[in-house]
Amino acid sequence: MGFKVVENYRVCGRDYLLTVEADRETVERIRAGQFGMVQVRSNLQFDPLLRRPLGIFNVEGNRVSFLYRVYGRGTELLTKTEPSEEVEVLMPLGNSIPEDREKYLFIAGGIGIGGLFLAARWFKEAGKEVVVLYGERSSDNLSGLPFLEKYGIETVVYTEDGSYGKKGLVTKELPEFKDYTWVACGPTPMLKAVKEIAEEEKAECFLSLDRRMACGVGACLGCTVKTTEGYKRCCVEGPIFKAEEVIF
Ligand code: FES
Repeated sequence: MGFKVVENYRVCGRDYLLTVEADRETVERIRAGQFGMVQVRSNLQFDPLLRRPLGIFNVEGNRVSFLYRVYGRGTELLTKTEPSEEVEVLMPLGNSIPEDREKYLFIAGGIGIGGLFLAARWFKEAGKEVVVLYGERSSDNLSGLPFLEKYGIETVVYTEDGSYGKKGLVTKELPEFKDYTWVACGPTPMLKAVKEIAEEEKAECFLSLDRRMACGVGACLGCTVKTTEGYKRCCVEGPIFKAEEVIF
């Protein structure tokens, strides 16, 4: 479905915020933790249309935002999309984060905040206890921070170089939160570490996984995740998995 672009700007570092004006019916179907397949248009003749899976970062009225980091050609092209253009977005896709717990700890590594922010915001607004642990290499890349501050979400920032918040990895104080339900999104080494610590601490833990996706709807089998129950499709059975079922 084509949606009008409202804004597409650089927040900081290599991170951009794309906002589209969606229809009411689409917005009402969105659950925390879901994603959209955003089509990137290229001006090059014969260049295939590219789609990128991006976590639904925020919803305000009918406006739906995606926070994304420029990694390669697809996301680089996406930065060229201008307000008032239309982009094709298939959404909402995937499963969602269980909503019935009382205390949530969101563990975001880098641009992983893009897949967790909306859950943190909505669950806080629903009266649940919410803490976000947000780790980055340095202060230059903390694109999620202005949004966490805007919505008053309790956040602890960790930077590897100590340029903002606490110095060190986002995983270093996890055991202090063992009576929370953990939801983590970020690079694989971080997710692996979170899973191990959750097992040691016997904390309930979910991982939001990121895979290359071609279709986003379960048809191409290009996004498989190895689990204790065999291979699953990240786009349909995920992106949210119980940590104990994921095999790294
Ligand atoms: S992206 Fe095609 S099956 Fe998941």
